[in-house]
Amino acid sequence: MSDFVSIKEVAARDGLQAQSVEITLEQRRRLIEALIETNVPELEIGSFVSPTAVPQMAGTDILARTLPHGHTKYSALVPNMKGYELARREGIDQIAIVLSATEQMNQNNIRKSLADTFAMAGDVLARARDERVEIHAYIAVAFECPYEGKVSPSFVIDRAAELMSNEPGRLVIADTIGAANPREVKSMMAELITQHGAYRLGCHFHDTRAMGLANVFAALDAGIRHFDSSAGGLGGCPFAPGARGNVATEDVVLLCESAGFSTGINVKALLASVECLTQIIGLPQGGRSHSWLSDNWRKIAN
Ligand code: COA
Ligand code: ZN
Repeated sequence: MSDFVSIKEVAARDGLQAQSVEITLEQRRRLIEALIETNVPELEIGSFVSPTAVPQMAGTDILARTLPHGHTKYSALVPNMKGYELARREGIDQIAIVLSATEQMNQNNIRKSLADTFAMAGDVLARARDERVEIHAYIAVAFECPYEGKVSPSFVIDRAAELMSNEPGRLVIADTIGAANPREVKSMMAELITQHGAYRLGCHFHDTRAMGLANVFAALDAGIRHFDSSAGGLGGCPFAPGARGNVATEDVVLLCESAGFSTGINVKALLASVECLTQIIGLPQGGRSHSWLSDNWRKIAN
């Protein structure tokens, strides 16, 4: 099993999408450029969604056109076929399509029923497969929904199998409101690995109940090597009340590197991007390890 843990940095999308301060395209571009310096392999630059629904993500098309192209793969979140087409038009490397495990979350997030959402996602995934576009399918609120409560693991596992039939590049299990615990994470990811193999799976955790890192470790222990995280731990969904920040990239990197995995992330550059976020938001940002890392970043091998 590989000891390389691949991180998708989501601060520029999940981190910014629900912030109440005004954020300019120039600030988003500066943050993305700072994040590129961290050497993160995958970077979500924004989403192609209705600007009325999520004003902070307006202009992702303009942003995409002005970004440099190098070793970092750019990713963008889309809610439907229109978003897929817009992302394709801008030459986005990886497209993340998000669907939720419950009726009410789909209604609130993308104004579709659960059945219509999975049918639409099937169409987008089949098209991406035919067009050889790298696509990641996200199952949001995979453990608990803010509107409907606990989600049955077998329901998620069955929906994952349905999505996998269209061969997405990755299927990501997302704990959108940060309600999962390590035991249920390990059990769900172990079952999904048995069915689909670890390489095609990823996890996305929020840290609402201080279990984010424990959940990362549970998934790591099960064999997962793809994780989303957000510099400074910024994050949240405007349509999922109670969703707090994502697991902080600096905490995930420290956990992985301390436990003998490698991430390739340049910690000094990561701390600089957290500083960039502090300037954008106007309040100090940083994960739980931020102050220790600021003094000890040289101790992290990379
Ligand atoms: N990007 C940009 N605009 C889009 C779009 C997309 N992906 N999908 C639809 N639109 C536009 C339509 O063209 C239409 O524009 P018009 O009024 O100028 O004709 C308008 O939005 C309404 O279209 P409709 O299909 O009726 O959408 P809706 O009002 O039912 O909203 C979504 C559905 C999915 C577009 C909207 O709920 C959304 O963007 N949700 C994203 C939620 C999100 O990002 N959550 C956080 C991440 S999980
Ligand atoms: Zn999230």
